[in-house]
Amino acid sequence: MTTQPIIALDVPSRSEARSFLKSFGDEELYLKVGMELFYAEGPELIRELKEMGHRIFLDLKLHDIPNTVYRAMRNIAALGIDMVNVHAAGGSEMMRAAKKGLEEGAEGASRPLLIAVTQLTSTTEDAMQREQRISLTLEESVLQYAKLAHESGLDGVVCSAWEAEAIQKATSPDFLCVTPGIRPDGSETGDQKRVATPERAREMGASYIVVGRPITQAAASVTAYHSIFDQWKGEQQ
Ligand code: C5P
Repeated sequence: MTTQPIIALDVPSRSEARSFLKSFGDEELYLKVGMELFYAEGPELIRELKEMGHRIFLDLKLHDIPNTVYRAMRNIAALGIDMVNVHAAGGSEMMRAAKKGLEEGAEGASRPLLIAVTQLTSTTEDAMQREQRISLTLEESVLQYAKLAHESGLDGVVCSAWEAEAIQKATSPDFLCVTPGIRPDGSETGDQKRVATPERAREMGASYIVVGRPITQAAASVTAYHSIFDQWKGEQQ
């Protein structure tokens, strides 16, 4: 079954989130809420979005000692969100603690999916080697972190669609690849470097696509969303 495209709700406030969502009427969406919006509006906004029937990927990229992450994840799961992430660089003990916190916080409901961030796309190979003292190529480091996340029981990673095949080969075919950097043919790439169309992302093994500006900045966001969804499903218009 094709998963819903995840819309990156990169807006600064609740009022802007509301006005963006208004045009979608009753349609239930999958929304990515990141640090900017969450730190401005907090858990209250998440509860409001859940009450509206939306699914939520809470993109907070946790990275701390295992006990702190475990406790934070218990609270995050209690919000009823659907997906959350951590930095794989926090280590296997931290990742296992995150998962345990989510299991406990979900209190019998289904546990939110737990996804790892490997190397940030803003990190260059040169900076990684000099600053993190990792003597691998960037691609090897991404695969190494993906394997660590898989061994730690996580559900998947955030990655470029172009990395999905190698990651699933190194881990397992059902290890989730949540892929931003999606651009329909002919749209602005903005600051994204390695972009893929929704169709290409599907062909390359992406499990979920995360799409921001091609929907949020579109003149007609609802039409843009449905067109991207159709391309992702393979029902090109
Ligand atoms: O507007 P755009 O479609 O580029 O938005 C993509 C979303 O995915 C943004 O919220 C961005 O922060 C996020 N993201 C990304 N690349 C990553 C990780 C997250 O673009 N490697």
